Amino acid sequence: MGIGMNRVDGKVALVTGGARGIGGETARQLVAAGAKVVMTDLLQAEGEALAAELNEAGANALFLTHDVTSESDWERAVAETTRQFGPLDILVNNAGVWSRGIIEETLVDEFDKLCAVNLKGVFLGTKYAIGAMKSRPADADSASIVNLSSTAGLVGSATSAVYSMTKGGVRLFTKSTAIEVRARGYNIRCNSVHPGATESPMQDDILATSNMSPDEIKAFKQTRNLLGRYGEPIDIAKAILFLASNDSAFMTGSEMVVDGGYTAR
Ligand SMILES: NC(=O)c1ccc[n+]([C@@H]2O[C@H](COP(=O)([O-])OP(=O)(O)OC[C@H]3O[C@@H](n4cnc5c(N)ncnc54)[C@H](O)[C@@H]3O)[C@@H](O)[C@H]2O)c1
Repeated sequence: MGIGMNRVDGKVALVTGGARGIGGETARQLVAAGAKVVMTDLLQAEGEALAAELNEAGANALFLTHDVTSESDWERAVAETTRQFGPLDILVNNAGVWSRGIIEETLVDEFDKLCAVNLKGVFLGTKYAIGAMKSRPADADSASIVNLSSTAGLVGSATSAVYSMTKGGVRLFTKSTAIEVRARGYNIRCNSVHPGATESPMQDDILATSNMSPDEIKAFKQTRNLLGRYGEPIDIAKAILFLASNDSAFMTGSEMVVDGGYTAR
């Protein structure tokens, strides 16, 4: 990749679920590429520690405690981002929750929680981001909304149908957002990212509840996709950074699959 690719110099980004995992690495990459980044999460201690680390090289990161299912939290987070760093250029709707369960045994409370974080959270984030981004001039770089879907938003699964339902919803909400904002004349792009299994605390939970032995887990990680390993958060963060940056200026309503080839077969 040439010098200057995927730069986001001076841009203002908000990354939800930014305390750890894919969101934490995305915040790190955005700061490294020149952005000012607000990381939001429920996990205050982890988020503040990451912000402090990122700020060692300059005051470009801020952590805010934020529940993506709360409308008033979104109002506050977007207002605080604008106040601290300026108008919002980039939103990464990354916060998400996963749960294992067959349909017959899934409790309505569990269903509601998955929908609240994975669907309502993305809806609310998009709602407040559009408000903050819509007055951007037509000749400026587009604002960019990046939504974390999953391979589970592309193909089905025997162990997490409700999660797949939410991630499929994120996929089409992304496309509708892309169309709607253009219909209204806003200079905003919106794309989804579809990671395959990626090393993170969420993935640790998935494997811990799988009934596989450590040896079986190792073999599973090597055979699950074409490239013989699980993704690392940086694999996904690089794709998010690309979609956030102006190097993806001609992409909107698209779905970027970053899965080691999992959905190719
Ligand atoms: N890791 C994978 O294999 C994988 C694969 C495909 C898609 N994804 C998606 O990528 C995104 C990030 O996943 P990850 O693996 O880094 O997970 P993770 O659990 O490690 O991180 C998710 C973060 O979201 C935060 N969060 C959860 N509920 C929240 C809420 N209500 N408000 C604010 N923050 C909240 C958590 O505290 C956590 O820090 C998720 O949307 C996930 O569904 C992950």
